[in-house]
Amino acid sequence: MEIVRDIVAVRKIIGQIKKDGLKCGFVPTMGALHEGHLSLVRQAKNDCDFVAVSIFVNPAQFGPREDLTRYPRPIKRDVNLLKKEKTDLLFLPTAKTMYPPDFSTWVQETVLSRPLCGAMRPGHFKGVATVVAKLFNIVQPDIAYFGAKDFQQAQVIKRMVRDLDFPVQIKVVPTVRDTDALALSSRNAYLNAADRDNARVIPYSLDVAKRMILQNRHVRPARVIAAMKKLIQARKGSRIDYISICDADTLGPLERSSVKILVALAVFAGKTRLIDNVVVGRG
Ligand code: PAJ
Repeated sequence: MEIVRDIVAVRKIIGQIKKDGLKCGFVPTMGALHEGHLSLVRQAKNDCDFVAVSIFVNPAQFGPREDLTRYPRPIKRDVNLLKKEKTDLLFLPTAKTMYPPDFSTWVQETVLSRPLCGAMRPGHFKGVATVVAKLFNIVQPDIAYFGAKDFQQAQVIKRMVRDLDFPVQIKVVPTVRDTDALALSSRNAYLNAADRDNARVIPYSLDVAKRMILQNRHVRPARVIAAMKKLIQARKGSRIDYISICDADTLGPLERSSVKILVALAVFAGKTRLIDNVVVGRG
């Protein structure tokens, strides 16, 4: 695995890959890798001849009171995990490389990034779209991989790619969960035993929501949300940031014509904000 820190060196390697007519897969991450990230790498290895992964804790997507400095950075461990997966290239830029001091150009998707996490974390998706656009321009992948755990993020990126004509295909990979159904996340490392126990209500409440919708596909979202709230609020030490039931394609209000229903939530387990979601087809 080649580990590269500067953009010119990445371009050189990718240039050769393109010359050789090889298909390039790309997995952008912020590191602290777990089986969720690795499932994206495996999918990329399966589909492509050459797989690039980036690790960059992107300051632009963290709010002023968020966990940027505290975010885990176990780089040696990450490098070993990626080597085991036979990753071809690891791009490890510094913040200065990605954002020179006079950086002044941003990418902003303006519809899908408004609700849900966008409403609770102003500027977050502007930071995500900008860094992903930059990474796409640097790595120039044929296919890029995103996890369904961050459903809204994948929707925003797909829209950005379509709207700005990036020559890349986006693949969304299912959420990898722990044995207790909690979605794997780098932020799970922050959880103490009590938080971790409380956090199990997140996948449980999503499962309850899914069953309510499958039982009555036109159940009022407010009824489902009320049931979820009750379950989560019964857990002392957990606090709801938002719960939303919306159209999975538009992220707007559910319509009678909606084909897929997104149930998404963010919940604080102790001080740690966790997100998860489930998509239910109306069938
Ligand atoms: P990060 O949180 O490190 O996640 C990197 C990728 O792994 C994302 O596409 C995310 O959806 C996926 N992922 C995380 N947990 C997962 C799980 N349990 N199962 C499946 N996939 C999972 O998302 C980001 O980084 C950043 O916003 C980034 C896109 C890299 C831009 O900075």
